[in-house]
Amino acid sequence: MASFLQWTLSLGLLFMVSETMGAAPRKPVDVPFGRNYVPTWAFDHIKYFKGGSEIELLLDKYTGTGFQSKGSYLFGHFSMQIKMVPGDSAGTVTAFYLSSQNSEHDEIDFEFLGNRSGQPYILQTNVFTGGKGDREQRIYLWFDPTKAYHSYSVLWNLYQIVFLVDDVPIRVFKNLKKLGVKFPFDQPMKIYSSLWNADDWATRGGLEKTDWSKAPFIATYKSFHVDGCEASVQAKYCATQGKRWWDQKEFQDLDAAQYRRLKWVRSKFTIYNYCTDRVRFPNVPPECKLDRDI
Ligand SMILES: *[C@@H]1O[C@H](CO)[C@@H](O)[C@H](O)[C@H]1NC(C)=O
Repeated sequence: MASFLQWTLSLGLLFMVSETMGAAPRKPVDVPFGRNYVPTWAFDHIKYFKGGSEIELLLDKYTGTGFQSKGSYLFGHFSMQIKMVPGDSAGTVTAFYLSSQNSEHDEIDFEFLGNRSGQPYILQTNVFTGGKGDREQRIYLWFDPTKAYHSYSVLWNLYQIVFLVDDVPIRVFKNLKKLGVKFPFDQPMKIYSSLWNADDWATRGGLEKTDWSKAPFIATYKSFHVDGCEASVQAKYCATQGKRWWDQKEFQDLDAAQYRRLKWVRSKFTIYNYCTDRVRFPNVPPECKLDRDI
């Protein structure tokens, strides 16, 4: 009897272990904007609500605006809750990204391309490593991002960079150093967000222009928590490297359920993937060879 109990117990434990593989990132808590962020430019185009726990970015024909994190970070989970510009947002771009400071820079980008009323936004993502980008992917979202807050986040550790929308992985960039692909690991990044006019390319490739009679265009933000290893801009490593929650086994790869959701997004919502663009890249970029299995 005792051994049977032991057996079922350890079986249960085994299941628990395999169940937790590939966990969803921790939920950020709401903190006021000013705790972790400062405006970057056009300070008068940012409005604060509820003690700074919600903000609006305004774009008019004079300027857009943006903000950045006070700290820089090496690895972690970086998220933002955003409600995109409603109504006619054609020509506008709302961005949320991480970027290192120097010339051979690393960057992890979310860019939300606006559209005419009732027409769908596009979410474009990109990854720069060692100054090299050209890794655009574009998807439609499975909801209207102007109607409510949704969370957009990046999980970044030594093993992978995961782009998530409401905890659904929409893109993974694995550390494929062994294939000769640079992976961001030794340059801290800051978190940025901005709203600006890009009607030369954003909507239907630049055909749809911003209608300034609809200005100001307003994107709304909340949840300014930052969960990362804070490091000085010049730091080469994180002092607590390997010991934080995002470093642990369950965050080093997606699990089967997460891969299924990623596959769902890719098959249903993909508009463009640089990995399959043989005109721009006659030779398949090395990191894309893995991409084909997803
Ligand atoms: C805007 O709407 C048009 C028409 O539905 C669509 O082709 C396009 O992909 C949409 N998004 C952007 C950002 O152009």
